[in-house]
Amino acid sequence: MTAHRTLLHIDSSARAQGSYSRQLTQVFVQAWQSANGVNAASVIYRDIGKTPVPAIDETWAAAYETEPEARTGEMKAAIALSDELLDELFAADCYVFGVPMYNLTIPATLKAYIDQVVRRDRTLEFINGKPQGRLKGKKALVITTRKFNYREGTDAAARNFLEPFLKAIFKIMGIEDVTFVVADQLAAGDEVRAASLAQAEAELLTLAQHW
Ligand SMILES: Cc1cc2nc3c(=O)[nH]c(=O)nc-3n(C[C@H](O)[C@H](O)[C@H](O)COP(=O)(O)O)c2cc1C
Repeated sequence: MTAHRTLLHIDSSARAQGSYSRQLTQVFVQAWQSANGVNAASVIYRDIGKTPVPAIDETWAAAYETEPEARTGEMKAAIALSDELLDELFAADCYVFGVPMYNLTIPATLKAYIDQVVRRDRTLEFINGKPQGRLKGKKALVITTRKFNYREGTDAAARNFLEPFLKAIFKIMGIEDVTFVVADQLAAGDEVRAASLAQAEAELLTLAQHW
């Protein structure tokens, strides 16, 4: 019998209607759940596009710099949501992020989420003075949508700050197994868009069988 698995699904598109990244995360999560068996696979859902987490503030930053036992009540309150988000990350075995490209990188809502969850007391541990990510062994799937084509070999590739940033920050958190599925050229006309979405969907349905 395989162990029960938990997937954390996070959408970050600002759009509720007509969002391609939401459409694709839903396709994947449903396929993953039926491939694993609905009773053997749970999904935690967070919609940071619709309900953004706040940007960190002065009290949050003070809590970050203060040892847990020395934190004031105000500091603890300021990082309570961060603790909740981290509990979800530790509870899940794998993560699926829906990430539209906004201005060459991730949406600000996802950056605010990342700022909330990279914590030196919980996400990192220091071994011989070197930071190590504590989310070791977890894996992430990033389903990313965009209007234009930034793939390797194009002139635009150098302006793509989305995949490089996410790879780097996930590595710091200990997440080394990261898969990107890209649906791009979504403004290049109906036919090109449909082909791009169909290609991404086919990749996701295949991946869901063994991920
Ligand atoms: C504020 C904003 C900035 C965007 N910046 C880019 C960009 O830099 N490059 C690009 O190819 N598409 C860009 N787009 C287009 C989106 O990536 C595209 O519409 C994508 O489908 C959005 O994801 P969604 O369909 O899940 O909402 C931008 C869209 C918005 C709203």
